[in-house]
Amino acid sequence: MSLTPVDLKIRPRRMDFGLPDPLPRHWHSNDPFKTHFFNAMSVLFPDGERYFIDSVRPFRAQIKDPVLLEQISGFIGQEGHHSREHIDYNNRLRALGYNIDRLEMPVKRRIRFVQKQFSAERQLAGTVAMEHFTAILANALLSEPQWLAQASPEMQKLWRWHALEETEHKAVAFDVYMQVCGDRKILRRAMRQATFFFLKDVTKGTLHMLKKDGKLTLSVWCKGMLWLWGRQGFFTRLIPAYRDFYRNDFHPWQHNNAVLMEQVAKEFELQPA
Ligand SMILES: [Fe+2]
Ligand SMILES: [Fe+2]
Repeated sequence: MSLTPVDLKIRPRRMDFGLPDPLPRHWHSNDPFKTHFFNAMSVLFPDGERYFIDSVRPFRAQIKDPVLLEQISGFIGQEGHHSREHIDYNNRLRALGYNIDRLEMPVKRRIRFVQKQFSAERQLAGTVAMEHFTAILANALLSEPQWLAQASPEMQKLWRWHALEETEHKAVAFDVYMQVCGDRKILRRAMRQATFFFLKDVTKGTLHMLKKDGKLTLSVWCKGMLWLWGRQGFFTRLIPAYRDFYRNDFHPWQHNNAVLMEQVAKEFELQPA
C-alpha cells in the first residue's frame, strides 16, 4: 500500500537562480573538497534525470490511478527542470576548465547499455533506487543546515530547491514500480548497483576537479573523507535511512518529512510553471 500523502502536490517551480558567472572556484566555504563533492553530483544529474524520466514514462499507460498519474506528470516536470538547471551549472564548471565531457561519457555509455540490455522493469528499479538516494541526501540538506553552511547563497538556493522537489516526488517512481512490478529482489539488486556507481562517479569527479585545481593533497583528501565518513559524517549519518530501502515493507514516506517539506516550500513561493 502506498503511504504517499494523499494531498501531496508535485509541481515544478520555474526558478531563476542567477548562478554566479563565473562560478567561484570554491563556492562552498572556500573549501575545495566540499565544493567539488557537490559539483561531482551535479555532473551526474542531467543524464541521470533524463534517464529517470525515460524509465517512468513507458508505464504511464498501465497506471489507472488519476492521483498517481498527476504525480507522474509533476515528477517529469520537476526532473526536466532540474536537468536544465544542472546543465547551466555544469557549463559554468566547463568554463572553469574542468573536463565535464570526460566525466559524463561513462555515465552516458552506462545509461545506453542499461536502456538496451535491461527490461523496462529493471530500468525503473534503477530509478527507484537512485530516487531513494536523492531523497535521503535531500532530507539531510534540508534538515541539517551544516552541510551547506557558508556556501554561496545562490548555490545554497539551487541545492535547497532541488532537495525540496526531490522530497516532494520521492515516492513517485516507487509507487509506479509497485503497481507494475513490485519485485523487491530486483529493487535490492538495483540499489546495490546504484550505490556502487554513484560512489564511483562522485569520487572520480571530485578527484578530477581537485587535481585540476592543484588541491589533491593527502590533507585535503583525508579531511574530506572525514567530512563524509567520519562518526558524524554526511554519508555516515545517512546509513540507517539508506538501509531502510532493503526492508521488505519499505516505502519512501515511512520517513514522513512532509512538515519540513512544507516549511522549506515557503522559501520558494514562486509561481508554479
Ligand atoms: Fe532531480
Ligand atoms: Fe528525483
